[in-house]
Amino acid sequence: MDRIIIRGGTPLKGRIPVSGAKNAALPILAAAILSDEPLRLTNVPDLADIHSMLRLLQILGVEARHVAGEPGSMEMRCTDVLSTVAPYELVRKMRASVLVLGPLLAREHEARVSLPGGCAIGTRPIDLHLSGLERMGARIELAEGYVQASAGDGLAGAEIRLAVPSVGATENLMMAASLARGETVIENAAREPEIVDLATCLRAMGALIEGAGGERIVIEGRDRLHAGAHAIMPDRIEAGTYAMAAAATGGDVVLGGMHRDLFGAAGASLEKAGVRLEDAPGGMRASRANGLHGTDVMTQPFPGFATDLQAQFMALMCVADGASMITETIFENRFMHVPELMRMGANITVQGSSALVRGVDRLKAAPVMATDLRASVSLVIAALAAEGRTELNRIYHLDRGYERLERKLADVGADIERIA
Ligand code: UD1
Repeated sequence: MDRIIIRGGTPLKGRIPVSGAKNAALPILAAAILSDEPLRLTNVPDLADIHSMLRLLQILGVEARHVAGEPGSMEMRCTDVLSTVAPYELVRKMRASVLVLGPLLAREHEARVSLPGGCAIGTRPIDLHLSGLERMGARIELAEGYVQASAGDGLAGAEIRLAVPSVGATENLMMAASLARGETVIENAAREPEIVDLATCLRAMGALIEGAGGERIVIEGRDRLHAGAHAIMPDRIEAGTYAMAAAATGGDVVLGGMHRDLFGAAGASLEKAGVRLEDAPGGMRASRANGLHGTDVMTQPFPGFATDLQAQFMALMCVADGASMITETIFENRFMHVPELMRMGANITVQGSSALVRGVDRLKAAPVMATDLRASVSLVIAALAAEGRTELNRIYHLDRGYERLERKLADVGADIERIA
């Protein structure tokens, strides 16, 4: 298994190109099921999770072709749906596979999708996806670990109020509603920028969607969607991660392609903590202002502080002056990075869903283990700021969500290498 070795202490300096957003690309790839005409995508990141989704889509009948000479460009086409079954072996590798449910049901009026099961950061149910589809007329049964969904002569528009603004449920329902009969209203919809990106792509394919990015989304169903083209938005989580890595090392980087609005409240929290953020030509500059300061944050749905930046922020707070209280409200059990950070000398006390971080002068290198995607990258930040040589194991988690991580960090001066 590959490992990453980091010798900490070098300030990161230079330009880091921000990749296309994994969490925007995954639903958008699934949207290719909605039409029999081609969907041309650019800025698709090259990540393990994207490959997992492409493998699943291929089984379902979506042909995906990389455009020669244009990295990140793909042409997707689902002339015919060949299967409506998303098998356990693929879904268990990646929860986002459940995003094929809405499109399959909308186009084929049936789908059988494995339940994703538990994952490292909590139970993560899909009840809201299912009850929303039921309101649109789907019959849903759970049997043998699968969701069996059917919709006789097709889905019908409905008024759906989400109990919590789930990103995945909003995406599944938006895609399903694009091909349903009549109007669907999603209330208390998720407002994440990735929702807006999906809506933009669906509109390019002929869907009629209003209000994406707000809490009420209205979709007027169409008989069919047509060919379209879309560029995937920049990955705000990757950008935030590198902004914090720069600040943790006393560095100064330009995040190519990123813009500030995508951070939501996280922008203000980073600045309060001592990360200077400024507009820069073609991107955003992130550097350390005058030291790092203990800052409290609570994760919330967008525009609140993203749960996907929580672990990285904690790594930053480990080396800040003073204390910070970090509260996780989206997922239970999302503090797996805490014991690993403590192995590096961090001072953290967890009380339920809050972690009290008391800053220390310096972290010290130690062998550590990645446990999930964002937890592992928080260890990379800690290692970059630490004294000595850190060995990070189980890095396949990083490959799920960070494109060319070692290359990008090495290019701005980090002493980092991957060992096979
Ligand atoms: C997406 C992101 C993930 C991010 C999360 C929250 C993708 C591929 N993944 O995950 O990186 O951390 O948003 O920003 O985009 N919930 C239910 N019932 C449901 C669905 C969700 O109770 O049917 C709960 C979840 O347990 C969780 C909360 O709602 O507590 C938010 O989950 P959700 O927004 O659905 O996250 P994902 O779409 O899975």
